[in-house]
Amino acid sequence: MHNIQVQLAKQPDGNPKASDFQVVKTDIPKVADGQFLARNIYLSLDPYMRGAIAGRHMGHQRLNQGDVIYGRCVAEVMESKHKDYKAGDHVVLEAGWQQFYVSGGEAADEIRKIDASIAPLSANIGALGMPGLTGWAGVEKLANPALGSTFVVSAAAGPVGGTAGQIAKAKGCRAVGIAGSDEKCRIVVNEYGFDACVNYKNKNWADELKAACPNGVDTYFDNVGGPMLDTITQQLNLYGKIIMCGLVSQYNRATDGAFHGHNMGPFVGKRAQLLGLVVYDYYAKMNEFMKAAVPLVNAGKLKFHEDRAEGIEKAPDHFVKLMNGQNNGKALVIIAPEKA
Ligand SMILES: NC(=O)c1ccc[n+]([C@@H]2O[C@H](COP(=O)([O-])OP(=O)(O)OC[C@H]3O[C@@H](n4cnc5c(N)ncnc54)[C@H](OP(=O)(O)O)[C@@H]3O)[C@@H](O)[C@H]2O)c1
Repeated sequence: MHNIQVQLAKQPDGNPKASDFQVVKTDIPKVADGQFLARNIYLSLDPYMRGAIAGRHMGHQRLNQGDVIYGRCVAEVMESKHKDYKAGDHVVLEAGWQQFYVSGGEAADEIRKIDASIAPLSANIGALGMPGLTGWAGVEKLANPALGSTFVVSAAAGPVGGTAGQIAKAKGCRAVGIAGSDEKCRIVVNEYGFDACVNYKNKNWADELKAACPNGVDTYFDNVGGPMLDTITQQLNLYGKIIMCGLVSQYNRATDGAFHGHNMGPFVGKRAQLLGLVVYDYYAKMNEFMKAAVPLVNAGKLKFHEDRAEGIEKAPDHFVKLMNGQNNGKALVIIAPEKA
């Protein structure tokens, strides 16, 4: 039995291309005392990986040719010589873009045991995983939006934006999404249950947003940055909050490319509160998040839409699609069937 890995072929220049990656067959390492072998089932593809590969993301070393690409997986323990894990356990761990991974249980592997009976396994890298925790923390721990207030979120069809908007809606807010296609807006309104969604590729999208937010914007959960942030800030109510979560419009820049600059005047004029969000600050609150989110999932108030590709060798193309904004929902790769 072999292990198929996806490694870096060369550093992407601008938007990543499939040829920046190489698919390689390797051996599966032997399991030593204190280790376990994980069979990866689902691989999460996330926008931060673009910066992580380039060494521009918190705590990630720049990758070199031949390095396995960073990535979090839902996995099953196949064989264990580790006291805390036994064969058959399900875990989420930082296993990289590959079929198998041997872990010594180190902190860097960010291992979390998961209960396969609570929700679909794949949800543990989406709405019930890091992206969902991000959306929940932004709403509950930073924005704390008032009942009846208007909550706007960009990249609303994705796992962070979709979760944030649904949690705000469950708290009694008017939830308005912004997304890059009519199909994404359909998912946001018809599946996630937002009150409205605006396709920002429409020429008059700022007017459409104004119509969808008749009382102005109280909270903007920003996943995109760039000029969209400036446009939405103009519609922010006095003392409104902006949750600074992501800058996906700028992740594909060349290494030395410039960031979009903002005129800070409107932020001052609006007396806006700009609140930076980093999900790592909330990992210790995972249990609190699950206690809140699982009942919402069971009550049909927290739904998730997935964009799946099948086979580890499809990961590069699927990542390229994500980084071009063409994913509809949580981007993931099915590496292996749930049951071996
Ligand atoms: N702060 C934190 O700790 C933290 C943690 C997790 C994620 N995040 C951030 O949260 C955001 C959403 O993450 P996600 O996992 O839910 O991703 P996602 O929404 O599934 O995918 C990214 C989406 O970004 C949108 N986008 C807007 N401008 C883009 C551009 N120029 N190029 C490519 N895509 C563009 C696209 O949707 P549209 O077509 O709808 O625009 C695309 O589908 C990202 O910015 C991510 O980095 C932050």
